[in-house]
Amino acid sequence: MKHEAYIRGIGYYAPEKVLTNADLEKIVETSDEWITSRTGIKERHIAAPGETVSDMTAQAARAALADAGLPAEAITHILLYTVTPDYFTPSASCLLEEKLGIRGRVVQDVNAACSGYLYGLEMARAILALHPEAVVLMAAAEVLTSRTNWADRRTCVLFGDAAAAAVVTSQAPPVSQARVMDVRLSSDGSLGHLLTIKGGGSGQPYKLGDVVGEEFFLAMNGPEVFKHAVRNMAGVCEEILSANGLSKDDIALFIPHQANWRIMEAVAKKLSLSTEKVMSTVARFGNTSASTVGVALVEARSAGRIPAGSTVLLAAFGGGFTWGSALLQF
Ligand code: UT7
Repeated sequence: MKHEAYIRGIGYYAPEKVLTNADLEKIVETSDEWITSRTGIKERHIAAPGETVSDMTAQAARAALADAGLPAEAITHILLYTVTPDYFTPSASCLLEEKLGIRGRVVQDVNAACSGYLYGLEMARAILALHPEAVVLMAAAEVLTSRTNWADRRTCVLFGDAAAAAVVTSQAPPVSQARVMDVRLSSDGSLGHLLTIKGGGSGQPYKLGDVVGEEFFLAMNGPEVFKHAVRNMAGVCEEILSANGLSKDDIALFIPHQANWRIMEAVAKKLSLSTEKVMSTVARFGNTSASTVGVALVEARSAGRIPAGSTVLLAAFGGGFTWGSALLQF
């Protein structure tokens, strides 16, 4: 028997501190003009010193639970998608569970880089297929600024910090808000070297007293990643539309990964979608990796861009490489 998955509540959290392009002009040789014209980013939120992924996710989770009308006690499973967990161990999902005041749940951290929110939706569906009574808290969060090389202008202007969360259950509307119609995921490890954070892992270990070098921070071949992001997001969107017998005209809103407005525009063009149908929060948040799609989804709903009955197309692309698409029916 097939069990449906529904999004019952959504929420996000962005740290208070905002770093503008003008602030970055004081840190590296860059300009508001370059950042705006090449990426569409104007500002990004930055975690406070000591503010962690589990702290931020706890805030996003509380917002999603309030939106779902459920207490934290109702949660049965926690999936936390991040590449910047608080520690290697304990996991950020264990710390999140503790911060939500609950115990004994099934919890795990997962790394799907910037595709985390979409991978999370699919894994929530899988859990619900096994346990239809489950209440899955799916969170995607990043403190990427903890792994930003502030001396590298090619990357440091791009990223921000944020957390997004969704409560996914098998209860249909009106209890829930949107049906997860379908999710398509993919990956290609042969291209992983184009976007890396290596230092501190078992492939790049440190000994006591070693100096932390550039390998500890995010490194990216931007132009190459750009090409793959456009090609793969467009491809996986075409795949999900065709598999569900839908055309671009059936899509009320397109919410792609928020890395760069030029990438979003290029994907929309390949899909023959008007840019008016593209939701963008990149100007205010920058690239917050795993959480971008979740943040933009909440912002889109608040802005009244998701009328009842509409179909929303989501897409993501990130390190690994990983990518995916999803269709939500509101
Ligand atoms: O979230 C995971 C997925 N990530 C992405 O999707 C990001 C994909 N990549 C991109 O968004 C873009 O490739 C970037 C925004 C990273 C770079 O834009 P670009 O148009 O591809 O620029 P570029 O890397 O080709 O650099 C063009 C020039 C270079 O100067 P030269 O060599 O032509 O003299 C760079 O050194 O711009 C220079 N440049 C900068 N100048 C001012 C690079 N970064 C900066 C900067 N400020 N911050």
